[in-house]
Amino acid sequence: MKLFDVYPLFNITPVKAQGSWLWDEKGEKYLDLYGGHAVISIGHSHPHYVKSLSDQLAKIAFYSNSVQNDLQAKFAEKLGKISGYEDYQLFLCNSGAEANENALKLASFVTGRKKVIAFKKAFHGRTSGAVAATDNPKIVAPFNAGHEIVFVPFNDETAFSQALDRDVAAVIIEGIQGVGGIQVPDDSFLKFLEKKCAANGSLLILDEIQSGYGRTGKFFAHQFAGIRPHLITTAKGMGNGFPIGGLFIHPDIKPWSGMLGTTFGGNYLASVAGLAVLEVMEKENLIRNAATIGTYWLDKLATFPAITGLRGRGLMIGFDVPETLKHVRQDLLFKHHIFTGEAKPNTIRLLPSLAMTKDEADLFLTALNKELQ
Ligand SMILES: Cc1ncc(COP(=O)(O)O)c(C=O)c1O
Repeated sequence: MKLFDVYPLFNITPVKAQGSWLWDEKGEKYLDLYGGHAVISIGHSHPHYVKSLSDQLAKIAFYSNSVQNDLQAKFAEKLGKISGYEDYQLFLCNSGAEANENALKLASFVTGRKKVIAFKKAFHGRTSGAVAATDNPKIVAPFNAGHEIVFVPFNDETAFSQALDRDVAAVIIEGIQGVGGIQVPDDSFLKFLEKKCAANGSLLILDEIQSGYGRTGKFFAHQFAGIRPHLITTAKGMGNGFPIGGLFIHPDIKPWSGMLGTTFGGNYLASVAGLAVLEVMEKENLIRNAATIGTYWLDKLATFPAITGLRGRGLMIGFDVPETLKHVRQDLLFKHHIFTGEAKPNTIRLLPSLAMTKDEADLFLTALNKELQ
């Protein structure tokens, strides 16, 4: 069977990884400043993570959510403490899109409404339809049975107020837009959304799938604005490569049996991977490291005359290169062996491991400086 050819692939085959580094089958070494779409949070193949997963695999890998799972409870407790959301409830699933689907569905269940406000250039995932095609009225929310999504410009209070009406179940916004090119919402805009949603009986959903998990120097990017959304979605860095998604749910939202569900969500391996990530983040002070190295990078990049629109927080950074230099990403990869990300047409996205060192940060600055001459 051939693979369905949907991905533009680099002709590189990684076979080994450690920390911020990848090796291909020819033994060539690459600096990874992209982490496979912001997934590698604690660094590739961290020994504590590898041991935790191997030990668990030898005991029990999976059983369904029909039995008690102490590992899931332990993971939820630690996640609540580290994130500052101890009073929230956690629903575990397998990916970012699934976390967002559940958030939208939950908002619709709670409000009985089906309209959603999202923002221009937003990216929240690639799924649709599975619930709508399910013949069980108990798990189909009004949203799933037919909905309206309105896209309004980012950071635009007037446009938002015009779109907000009594039909709005939820407002969904990224902590920092990732695929849309690293757009940071104003703290005042997030505060405004929180206030407007509360007054309108709509739920505010913060998609922290790319911007969360310590990447910005706080656990979640929205914590810079001091808001507390009704629902927060997370995935990517949560499992450092093991597929996990999560939904943080406000304490006022009450569950009923069967309201949400999934086969694999929160399984033993996923819970252990999640726990190991948090343990390493805590032990190695990775959120502080993300803030420190991120500020260092931002300060240095600000001195490069060829780049414009430098933006981001911590280790979620974007900047634009001139049209004539839009091959820079390819040159960084093929001449300097440095993986970066992009947002089309000419934005470079940096999403390295939160454990990146200053020396690794400097390797990138030196290579970029050379390519921008
Ligand atoms: C902000 C955001 N939300 C949701 C998703 C979807 O996550 P997944 O690919 O795990 O379904 C992504 C993926 O890039 C994302 O960046």
